[in-house]
Amino acid sequence: MIKVAVMGHGVVGGGVTEILLKNAESIAKKVKQEIYIEKVLDLRDFPDSPISDRFTKDFNDIISNDEISIVVEVMGGLKPAYDFVKQCLEKGKSVVTSNKELVAAKGAELLAIAEKNNVNFLFEASVGGGIPIIRPLHQCLSANNIEKINGILNGTTNFILNKMINDKMSFEDALALAQEKGYAERNPAADIEGHDACRKICILASLVYGTHVYPDSVHTEGITKVSLTDVEYASKWGGVVKLIASARISAKDNTKQEIMVAPMFVSRDCQLSNVDGVYNEILVRGDSSGSVGFYGRGAGKLPTASAVVADVMDCVLHKDERRDIMWKDGNGENVVPYEEYENAMYVRFSADDEQTALAKANEIFGKCDVIEKIDATADTAIVTPELSYADFVEKSKKFAELC
Ligand code: HSE
Repeated sequence: MIKVAVMGHGVVGGGVTEILLKNAESIAKKVKQEIYIEKVLDLRDFPDSPISDRFTKDFNDIISNDEISIVVEVMGGLKPAYDFVKQCLEKGKSVVTSNKELVAAKGAELLAIAEKNNVNFLFEASVGGGIPIIRPLHQCLSANNIEKINGILNGTTNFILNKMINDKMSFEDALALAQEKGYAERNPAADIEGHDACRKICILASLVYGTHVYPDSVHTEGITKVSLTDVEYASKWGGVVKLIASARISAKDNTKQEIMVAPMFVSRDCQLSNVDGVYNEILVRGDSSGSVGFYGRGAGKLPTASAVVADVMDCVLHKDERRDIMWKDGNGENVVPYEEYENAMYVRFSADDEQTALAKANEIFGKCDVIEKIDATADTAIVTPELSYADFVEKSKKFAELC
């Protein structure tokens, strides 16, 4: 029998204990022994839980119990999760987490501590909820140089955009519904301002490029400025607005990466345009495999918990050996500054003399695509040719002065 502790009994933690109890028999068969939940740490009381007698409010009941060899951290946030996880690893306990904030902020350090103590630190559930992505990138695609990753990595914002596009629901109502369904973070600003997606692309980039990418090196925009007008223009253009997290090898220096999170127009030809609701999809292009897609539920109790429990099972099966997931620490030098990224830009403006303004736009930005108007009195919307962000900012100023 292997004894585990679960720190946190929120949405995901509740799912972890539920799966470990309901699937106990089949799980035991697969790992060739029983996995017993020895302790659950939470400050709240859960008198209705079938294991209510195993709840504790004291971390010491876990760290000082030498029979507990695997600890699941599903508390979220950095405090006290970072301190607790570090102590567990230092004490020789393997740790499984779904906490993307923790892995994005402290991954390199915690992986090094796990290596030093010959234990595992696994985090499949930290990206894409129930979608297998960490293991496939680390193992199945490991013979490739990963040229780029483009993904919808936040279920809450995808759910909100979808409700706005299909049901014309207001942003606020759609967010409230996402919270009710348990998709959103405790502080939903992390979802709507793009930080959650940023943490996840940082984890994927750290894993595939081997150097820790910290969130503050990554240009991050959320969806709070996306209006119904933009959504309608995206449709006229031939696509949808999606919050895209991307990482690609720089064309100018293959030792560096361009990593960003921003709302983008996604053409209807691209698979990502069809990702609805809380689903996530991650498209990965390897130099040998070509494009590979990973699709599934990116948030929610049982999908995320299933990835956590699978990591626990992996720890049981590899009890006295280490999964060799590692990356070195980084200082941001491997991330190209955002000002240098080249992208086509969507611009919306109003001008008294529209034809003259359009002629100036073509002169300043280069030949732009003009999107058909959503109605006669609406703003004019264009898409510029690809240009660097620094160039775009400078040219936009010039354009605003001339209009
Ligand atoms: N708030 C996150 C999301 C939860 O909406 O994707 C899963 O990480």
